[in-house]
Amino acid sequence: MIIVTGGAGFIGSNFVLDWLISSDEPVVNVDKLTYAGNLDNLVSVRNDSRHIFVHADICDTPRMAQLLSEYRPRAIVHFAAESHVDRSIHGPMDFIETNVKGTFSLLEATKVYWNTLHEEEKLAFRFLHVSTDEVYGSLGPNDPPFTETTSYAPNSPYSASKAASDHLVRAYHHTYGLPVLTTNCSNNYGPYHFPEKLIPLMITNARAGKPLPIYGDGQQVRDWLYVGDHCAAIRRVLEAGKVGEVYNVGGWNEKTNLEVVHVLCDILDELDPKSGAGLASYRDQITYVTDRPGHDRRYAIDARKIERELDWKPAETFDTGIRKTVAWYLVNEQWVRNVQSGDYAKWVEKNYQMRDAQSEASK
Ligand code: NAD
Ligand code: DAU
Repeated sequence: MIIVTGGAGFIGSNFVLDWLISSDEPVVNVDKLTYAGNLDNLVSVRNDSRHIFVHADICDTPRMAQLLSEYRPRAIVHFAAESHVDRSIHGPMDFIETNVKGTFSLLEATKVYWNTLHEEEKLAFRFLHVSTDEVYGSLGPNDPPFTETTSYAPNSPYSASKAASDHLVRAYHHTYGLPVLTTNCSNNYGPYHFPEKLIPLMITNARAGKPLPIYGDGQQVRDWLYVGDHCAAIRRVLEAGKVGEVYNVGGWNEKTNLEVVHVLCDILDELDPKSGAGLASYRDQITYVTDRPGHDRRYAIDARKIERELDWKPAETFDTGIRKTVAWYLVNEQWVRNVQSGDYAKWVEKNYQMRDAQSEASK
């Protein structure tokens, strides 16, 4: 079996669901269930004996050690993290705890477990660390995309904590021989995406008749990848990646934030037009607000290594993936209502009340 950490979050739950469709191998899902962890994402496998959910914190090394000796996995896929840049600006401590100390704790427990394995099992074992393109910093408009050898230059507490975790994973390979793999991926989108992030926030605000808050001038560029493609890339790296190597994963879909929001408004205008208003568009709700401090201007991923060496390519284009995503949010209104009922309102107040609305003319 394999152990997945953070499998109740956005990408982790998509990974668990896809895994159980494409394989019969059981998966132990270790998650602390922070505000971002949601067992509603996993209702379809609630009665599936191949899915074992364990409520635990990766910072708890003895608990991680106990789980490893109990389940004896052949691999760990490590998603668990604090993942939202804006939250890392308001409160970096949780990011250091989970992303740095939690990854360290998991590596320590894994090293001890791995050393108990027989030679063949030791050779076959993998620790796959799921990381981000944000560790490489920010690109200028004409810079080439990030490759696996681009120097690290993290700019937010989130990306700095992920960079630290990447370095620890690398060190455990070089120093102790732990068979690790690291993936650095661009911005994901798709089902079960928590509506604090750009795409689900814009879809849910649009439908609720609320402002669509664009930070700064909206010309920041991100590379977007459908979450199912990210999960397929991780499965492929786990299956055939070379131990100790890093693989960049991306969608070749560079878009400005404003372009993304325009696309979302246009799809909503088509699939869920505003009632009784012939000319009204969701675009009318776009509002420019104070920028994110230290906002990275552009990310872009060169994904040629994983394509060349492991024959992975995204299956979705931005057009197909974003349509599926909007359609999912239209059908899954109850899921949205459930995640918005907890601490969500407090977060929205904290993050957006301090941002003054800015008129386009003032920028
Ligand atoms: P998410 O915030 O949606 O989910 C994180 C999950 O980790 C949650 O289920 C949460 O409960 C769990 N968790 C947090 N702290 C924990 C702890 N101490 N112990 C156990 N579980 C804990 O995050 P996501 O967007 O699904 O991202 C998953 C991983 O992928 C992260 O490592 C992130 O850095 C990386 N990543 C994300 C993106 C993206 O666009 N979302 C892109 C590239 C890489
Ligand atoms: O690049 C990979 C990273 O992508 C992951 O490592 C992170 O976990 C993930 O959260 C994401 O980080 P971003 O900061 O790029 O994602 P976010 O959805 O928060 O923002 C995307 C862009 O949209 C960014 O330029 C900020 C902008 N934005 C975001 C929000 C929430 C807005 O303009 N308005 C908003 O309200």
